[in-house]
Amino acid sequence: MSKKIAVLPGDGIGIEIVAQAVKVLNCLKNDFGLDVEMENGLVGGAAYDDSGTPLPEATLKLAREADAVLLGAVGGYKWESLDIAVRPEKGLLGLRAELELFANLRPAILYPQLAHASTLKPEVVSGLDIMIVRELTGGIYFGQPRGIRVLDNDEKQGFNTLIYKESEIERIAHVAFETAMKRNKKLCSVDKANVLECTELWREVMIRVSKEYPEVELSHMYVDNAAMQLVRAPKQFDVMVTTNMFGDILSDCAAMLTGSIGMLPSASMDKNQKGMYEPIHGSAPDIAGQDMANPMATILSVAMMLRYSLGAEELAIKVENAVESVLDQGLRTEDIYTEGDTKVGTEAMGDAVVAALKT
Ligand code: NAD
Ligand code: IPM
Ligand code: MN
Repeated sequence: MSKKIAVLPGDGIGIEIVAQAVKVLNCLKNDFGLDVEMENGLVGGAAYDDSGTPLPEATLKLAREADAVLLGAVGGYKWESLDIAVRPEKGLLGLRAELELFANLRPAILYPQLAHASTLKPEVVSGLDIMIVRELTGGIYFGQPRGIRVLDNDEKQGFNTLIYKESEIERIAHVAFETAMKRNKKLCSVDKANVLECTELWREVMIRVSKEYPEVELSHMYVDNAAMQLVRAPKQFDVMVTTNMFGDILSDCAAMLTGSIGMLPSASMDKNQKGMYEPIHGSAPDIAGQDMANPMATILSVAMMLRYSLGAEELAIKVENAVESVLDQGLRTEDIYTEGDTKVGTEAMGDAVVAALKT
């Protein structure tokens, strides 16, 4: 039976990059026997404009019924002054929460062809291969109470709650240890246990779960140091596991090690291998609609989808090889361009990946 993919381009460059990823999926479907059906839905600002909500019931239904979701990005200047409850970002957070996508895998891999595109020295980043496991449905992003209240003296006070139950920490710990078992068996848990009780518990649970994985070497690092170490000596890391907000920040930081945030895919997984596949970057309103965005993060997210949700490892490798082959040809979008390369746009980059798939 064919598998169903919900395609949610979202806003800004989301539309342009998802179009390239869909080209890749169509090529796999037509030429390589991938048995999938795709159906589009609205999310984020596009959905708000259409129906007044960033996550319409129809989109949620489509995502629930699908075997996998492909998401572009949400957000943009146009919607920044809306009430936070209906902002585009709430559509994405709602999808993650409703589908219980608690485990976000964000691989930061430096393709050797891009060693000079990184702002870090080539010797610092060459050979880089880190997997960041970010908790995605808890922590300060979802904790209650939250809001902005008015104090007795009429001063406003903003507040959010950093909160984790043991069971939430345990399940992300298992994903992280399992991930480490398949790699170099080194796991670094990133917290702020020196200041925040919630992450003191995080560390305690990580240590407890580690007893079930005696082969994995577990270490702990405070988040401030982790940010520094990521740019100082990133190759010390194999798998990192951390909270929702720390993972958000550290993965953008890790992205730059690979040359550009436009290269970093991600998989947001539930406990049954259902996933939403999304580049880690946003809707990049500064370059939207200009055929400038790098579609590789989204195309590599398709590879993750093939691997984790569609049981098509061979095709996943095929897509990854096609991306490498395009980089070998010297084709570069603006964000990864260095002198001597051939500068191309979003569309041409997508077409080149499809052409590479076919050869
Ligand atoms: P951003 O990731 O959209 O952009 C940051 C910078 O990186 C920009 O200069 C942008 O041009 C560049 N960039 C990002 N992706 C690129 C790509 N594929 N190719 C080339 N350059 C790329 O972050 P931001 O500017 O802080 O946020 C813009 C909007 O996106 C906001 O509304 C934010 O909430 C939203 N956002 C959405 C997601 C998501 O949907 N997953 C993720 C992050 C931010
Ligand atoms: C990401 C984004 C989202 C996040 C926003 C848009 C809600 O930054 O996917 O990294 O903070 O998780
Ligand atoms: Mn982010």
